[in-house]
Amino acid sequence: MIVREESAQLAVEKSSLKDPFHASVFYNPRMQFNRSLSSLAVGASGAKTLCDGLSASGARGIRYFLENGLEGVDFVDANPDAVKLLRGNVERNRVSGNVLEGGFNESVRKNYDWVEVDPFGSPAPFLEIAFQHAKKFVSITATDLANLCSAHKNRQEVCRRVYGAEPLHCPFSHELALRILVAKCVRVANSLGLKARPVLSFYWGHATKTILKLGEGAPEEGFVSFDGKEARVSRKGAGPLWVGDLCDVGFLRECAKLNCRGYADEKKIAETLELLEGELGLPPFHYDLHALSGAFGVPTPKKEVVLRGLRDAGWRAVETHYSPRAIKTDAPFEEIRCLLPGRAPS
Ligand SMILES: C[S@@+](CC[C@H](N)C(=O)[O-])C[C@H]1O[C@@H](n2cnc3c(N)ncnc32)[C@H](O)[C@@H]1O
Repeated sequence: MIVREESAQLAVEKSSLKDPFHASVFYNPRMQFNRSLSSLAVGASGAKTLCDGLSASGARGIRYFLENGLEGVDFVDANPDAVKLLRGNVERNRVSGNVLEGGFNESVRKNYDWVEVDPFGSPAPFLEIAFQHAKKFVSITATDLANLCSAHKNRQEVCRRVYGAEPLHCPFSHELALRILVAKCVRVANSLGLKARPVLSFYWGHATKTILKLGEGAPEEGFVSFDGKEARVSRKGAGPLWVGDLCDVGFLRECAKLNCRGYADEKKIAETLELLEGELGLPPFHYDLHALSGAFGVPTPKKEVVLRGLRDAGWRAVETHYSPRAIKTDAPFEEIRCLLPGRAPS
């Protein structure tokens, strides 16, 4: 069947609309927000050539091409069923470029302004080739949050092996997962003699995504510890993970400027970009007020009350894109604790 996703007309398997993971060709309509925000990022990057590395139906590469006036997109997929559908979609949408059937690592030969890696699970096996063939930007999605956030020993072991980092199951695991992913990407780039820094990174719908700009940036790695109540940057704990900013303010604003294409998710994207900008310059963790009040055995305070209390005391305090229940602040933990109902005991 044919579906319309923003600019693109895509032939997809009907069953994928309900259960993308069991369809013979993957297409997940719930990732439209991610694809739309990513397409704005392609526009903001000024990229002209792009490799959609693990394309499935081609939804990303086709949209990126149509919505950003790219010169050409090459598509790669190892699944022959996907390639068949993909060829039809590329033709239907009049995209200039090649469709390559085969493994990403074995098939990518040329260099591109932007290399997109959107695999099932971890992107780790594809990072080296992605960086080697990117001239300006690498865009990486990871959906293996079960490894990046897990409380289970076996999963944690996978995280150590795949990402070279200690995960932590806690109320702000998704932020740590994103930071572990970014640190891993930068480490791979550095190991190839390249510099890279994140310009847009976010967590959305069981996926973490980071877009890295090549040619600039220095490693900003560290660890985050958590004692069940208080989080802090420390010498050990979860990590090594990225403790610097996850986005670049100029890049976010460029995306926001382009966000007038009439996307179905325009409002949500605008809100997310604003939240991401608010998070810049703040510590690499956040507090879920529900979890925090639970840890102290007190009722959950209103988020607005805590935010106002912290701001009135002269601290920065913002909402986060990770969760509507969470706040991020540069205030010492004691200041947050004092704003919990009944002045929670320490
Ligand atoms: C999550 S899907 C991609 C989704 C797509 N980017 C989208 O937005 O709809 C991952 C795709 O990677 C393909 N794949 C898996 N391993 C691969 C490999 N080693 N090389 C190339 N493609 C691979 C799968 O066939 C699948 O189509």
